[in-house]
Amino acid sequence: MDSFDLSLLAPEITGAHAQFPGALEACADLGALNRLKGAYTGREGSFSAQLMERLKAAPKDQKRELGVVINALKSEWESALKARQAQLEAARKAGGSASSAWDATLPPPIPPAGALHPLNRLMARLVEVFRPLGYHVEEGPEVETEEHNFDGLNIPEDHSARGTADTFYLAGHAHLLLRTHTSPVQVRVLKRLAPELEKKGGIRFLAPGRVYRKDEIDPTHSPMFHQVEGMLVGKGIGMHHLKGTLAYAMKALFGEGADVRFRPSYFPFVEPGCEMDVRCPLCSGAGCRVCKGSGWVEILGAGLIHPNVLRFAGIDPAIWSGFAFGMGVERTAMMVSQTPDLRLFFENDQRFLKLMGGLD
Ligand code: PHE
Repeated sequence: MDSFDLSLLAPEITGAHAQFPGALEACADLGALNRLKGAYTGREGSFSAQLMERLKAAPKDQKRELGVVINALKSEWESALKARQAQLEAARKAGGSASSAWDATLPPPIPPAGALHPLNRLMARLVEVFRPLGYHVEEGPEVETEEHNFDGLNIPEDHSARGTADTFYLAGHAHLLLRTHTSPVQVRVLKRLAPELEKKGGIRFLAPGRVYRKDEIDPTHSPMFHQVEGMLVGKGIGMHHLKGTLAYAMKALFGEGADVRFRPSYFPFVEPGCEMDVRCPLCSGAGCRVCKGSGWVEILGAGLIHPNVLRFAGIDPAIWSGFAFGMGVERTAMMVSQTPDLRLFFENDQRFLKLMGGLD
């Protein structure tokens, strides 16, 4: 087959040469071809390199004859490799393997679609749960005044939450801060709607948004997180209205089997105040890291609006009463989706987001 005499070469070289056509044919892509190229014609350790060593070491009178054979062999390999490379490159450009052809009847690839983040989806769901109950959506700024974040909420001058250890104040703006909860929206909405309260017959709103606290990042804390504030103002409103509303909302959110409990608690802007826990879905109440062994997870603070909050906004607490609640969105999302670490919501790992069903 060969027009030159291979008997001058070592048997491993002649063996390699015999295998070359088959090995070349077996290269299905450019990666495989590059590996073969390395083995036959690479600078170091290749069969070509071995041949050059052999040529160098050959006795003077053999050099000429041997050189002819070696050059012929090398150029045969090189030109065959080049031809195969052109073939594979053409196949890749055509969008398939060497053997596949363009098929115009195939459906087009579906472009990847974006989706709402799981936290935004949960907030949107909460809005939908409360909308049929007559709640509309309110928003407030994330950079707030002390007046809205603390004063209007009956939070005393010496309350620890006002300190720089807990709250981000804006450098150079003594009374501006990053809101530490969504409750300042209560103050804004009450002040705005106070004049029309009689005409409207009451107030009902939900206020989702970001809040900020100087917390260290861990599986259940982040210096930025989300809350959904809820508020209702009417006449003769009591704790039973609050409990009925929240029990309804939790069933809508977690399913009919949702287990909740209320514990007395204290917030300066409500009286009486309470916290609501849900049975930990991660461990079904047996106790785990997320519920810190208790079987319950606190997801919101609530209570009846303190008369001072109404008064501050210009509303007469002798006529009007109401309730308010502030729900932790990450906490709730962790419970709904059984996610054990809040940080997953902020890392934007596509695998997690896909798992949450937001992307496909
Ligand atoms: N603002 C409170 C918090 O951030 C929650 C709350 C809202 C409590 C409304 C009572 C009423 O913890």
